[in-house]
Amino acid sequence: MKIGIRLSLLSALIATALTASPLGELGARRPPNILVILADDLGIGDVGCYGNDTIRTPNIDRLAAEGVKLTHHLAAAPMCTPSRAAMMTSRYPARYGLVPNERLETVVIPHISSRVALPLDEVTLATALRAANYTTALVGKWHLGMYCNLFGESCPGPLKHGFDTFYGIPVTLFMEFRGPHPFWVFDLEKPGFQRLAFTWLLSVVSLAFAKKKLKWSLFTLVFLLLLTHAILFVFWFFTAHVGLDKGSLWGVSNWLHRAANSRIFRQDKVVESPIELDGLSQRLAAESRKVLADFAKDDKPFFLFHSLAHVHTPMFNAPNRERASKHGRYGDNIEEMDESIGTVLDSLKEFGLEDNTLVYFTSDQGGHLEAIDDDGQRIGGHNGLFKGGKAQGGPEGGIRVAGIYRWPGHLPGGAVVDTPTSLMDLMPTFLDLAGLPPLGELVPSAANKDLDGQSIADLLMNGDRSPPQERIMIHHCRQAIRALRLVRGDHIYKMYVGKVNWFEGSTQCGWGHSTGCACYGDEFHRDISHAPELYDLSFDPYEDKPINPEITEYKEIVEFLQDYLKKWKSSVHYPDPPMSNVLDVMWRIHYQPFCRSC
Ligand SMILES: *[C@@H]1O[C@H](CO)[C@@H](O)[C@H](O)[C@H]1NC(C)=O
Ligand SMILES: *[C@@H]1O[C@H](CO)[C@@H](O)[C@H](O)[C@H]1NC(C)=O
Repeated sequence: MKIGIRLSLLSALIATALTASPLGELGARRPPNILVILADDLGIGDVGCYGNDTIRTPNIDRLAAEGVKLTHHLAAAPMCTPSRAAMMTSRYPARYGLVPNERLETVVIPHISSRVALPLDEVTLATALRAANYTTALVGKWHLGMYCNLFGESCPGPLKHGFDTFYGIPVTLFMEFRGPHPFWVFDLEKPGFQRLAFTWLLSVVSLAFAKKKLKWSLFTLVFLLLLTHAILFVFWFFTAHVGLDKGSLWGVSNWLHRAANSRIFRQDKVVESPIELDGLSQRLAAESRKVLADFAKDDKPFFLFHSLAHVHTPMFNAPNRERASKHGRYGDNIEEMDESIGTVLDSLKEFGLEDNTLVYFTSDQGGHLEAIDDDGQRIGGHNGLFKGGKAQGGPEGGIRVAGIYRWPGHLPGGAVVDTPTSLMDLMPTFLDLAGLPPLGELVPSAANKDLDGQSIADLLMNGDRSPPQERIMIHHCRQAIRALRLVRGDHIYKMYVGKVNWFEGSTQCGWGHSTGCACYGDEFHRDISHAPELYDLSFDPYEDKPINPEITEYKEIVEFLQDYLKKWKSSVHYPDPPMSNVLDVMWRIHYQPFCRSC
């Protein structure tokens, strides 16, 4: 079958070469370009072409009308860092520790100066394509670690993972970025500040007393007072802004979180701090337009990764933009996101790159159901009828996302594929479609790495008619396995070995911008590995009717999957994740990059 794909691809390529290609001979000879557009926290129910008739996403809808729409497209994790790592490497993040285990509260990389990052021996799509002589660029959010040196010198995160250029956000947008927050904090109700006040009083009194007794000059007194205050200032700073019990994610205050992490990088240097949220979406789109204009002048193929800042919290829009969606602030953000996708797609066309560029659009995970703004307005996505959302281990709502592949003249326009696919399929699929060698040949160090994604080139070209392939997907919560999906014949089985405890009558866990359902711990999670729940999503897509454990089908499938799970656990090594090491995750003052040009 592989050979079949290659042959049909070859004939498609020859056909394009023979018909008048807008790029002429040059364009037809070189492999296709790739543009990946990744949304953040976009619910599958937030998109027009996935059934939302009150929100306007004309650009995404057009992409689907001209390409292949995947209706059963799955993220490897319901959180940014692990999901993005999986998409870029085609491997479960648990294999290389870019997920927390149950010990730590943090679920993503919280600081630019956290030590944890995507390990350098993992091979990303960018690294692979660079090895195939592509020019590569990342515009937008990275969130896979920055590798800063002492004093935040040279923080080449994406540049160490195959990208020639980077302009964007090193971590993610956090709610705290919408400042300002108070710097001067002195809360006398807290013991830390009480101790400080007492120490200050004691030092001043002792100095005054000592001056008298020891007959110090005024100069000595002033010098010692200044010194004491300098030392006390450092203690105050740490009391007010640093410490594992601080308000913001992983050990810093809201003020410090914004001051340290709200940054835009160009290459390995900070160029904006704090991030001006108003108009950020347009600035990123304009940057990608510039990048595409440069690519168009070059005869090398390119990979542009446009990683959107929308629709993660906090909500923001361009200043003076008419806010006209029917769904409040969140709807406005969706529509602005779609507009910026339009800018990037239009640039592709304007520079004559459309026909030779494969476009892939998806979201890193499902909508964040619990998110509300300070004024109580909902600012999280909508996952259609799928249950659950972002941050939840196995439930469909957190991992079933929009997915569209478009390549004019090569992939059918307006096609729909219902067969389960994964974000992790991107790398093998693109290498296959582009007629490039497999990963292990392009990057020899990747030869011994097991990929969890697989090429879906055949599905994209022939749709669900292509011969069914048995496939198993694993759904993790952090490092733990919560569910398995088995695609077999016409069936799509999903077996849960752990479930989330939702609030009664809902599929979520409360309200709050930083609230999510944790998928571990007794409060949120129930271990049901002794009596797994089994669904057949081919006729029960919203997981309403678990299969009766008494029937043969249940017994057969559950036994098969439990056996698979046992073998997986005994043969696949999940290292102790660096993301669960406090010292690696916390804010490291000596790695903090500073803004020298802004
Ligand atoms: C469309 O999206 C909005 C915003 O998330 C949501 O509130 C609404 O329920 C969705 N409508 C449908 C029909 O899915
Ligand atoms: C990349 O370019 C080099 C030097 O021009 C060439 O030897 C190599 O075969 C190219 N690699 C691919 C995958 O085309």
